[in-house]
Amino acid sequence: MATERGEGYERFVGRWEEARHRQAFADPSFAYFIGQKDGVPAGFVLVEFWGAANRKALVRRIAVRQPGQGHGRRMLAAVVSRIFDETDAHRVWLGLFPENLRARRTYQAVGFQAEGVERSSVYMNGEFRDQLIMAVLRPEWEAIRLAGASRLE
Ligand SMILES: CC(C)(COP(=O)(O)OP(=O)(O)OC[C@H]1O[C@@H](n2cnc3c(N)ncnc32)[C@H](O)[C@@H]1OP(=O)(O)O)[C@@H](O)C(=O)NCCC(=O)NCCS
Repeated sequence: MATERGEGYERFVGRWEEARHRQAFADPSFAYFIGQKDGVPAGFVLVEFWGAANRKALVRRIAVRQPGQGHGRRMLAAVVSRIFDETDAHRVWLGLFPENLRARRTYQAVGFQAEGVERSSVYMNGEFRDQLIMAVLRPEWEAIRLAGASRLE
């Protein structure tokens, strides 16, 4: 909760109260991952539709404590690997606000491709905002792995 409330993050990422997080903790279709650097939490990734029958998993939320140090890229790559290894997902997708260029660059570096913009897709803080959809498919992830994407390690 502290990480998703990071300074300046309110334009980019959702925030849940404790009760909503606890509800998701108890729900097997959600999976929480906490990235650590030298034993200290560096950020988290929240996956929704874990193991879903339609074989699509959603990276619902990602945030790091200190942006711009490569933590987001490494965390996300590790989580995408876990999704493809531990479930039969064919598609891992996420949505972001198009002006969040730092996030877009991070997702591109991991292997996500931009697919299109959903107009007025998110109602947040009293306004409707567009959402850019990005995704990586299982065969693409296998190709990335085969290419030995050392930049993600
Ligand atoms: C998005 C987020 C998870 C990315 O994690 P991170 O640790 O900051 O990302 P990394 O350091 O791994 O990579 C950031 C990349 O963006 C680039 N970048 C940084 N600031 C940028 C900016 N203002 N515009 C464009 N690119 C930028 C960096 O150069 C780097 O790319 P490169 O490695 O190709 O040079 C993190 O910044 C964050 O928590 N942001 C606030 C919450 C948020 O936006 N969450 C995502 C909601 S969809």
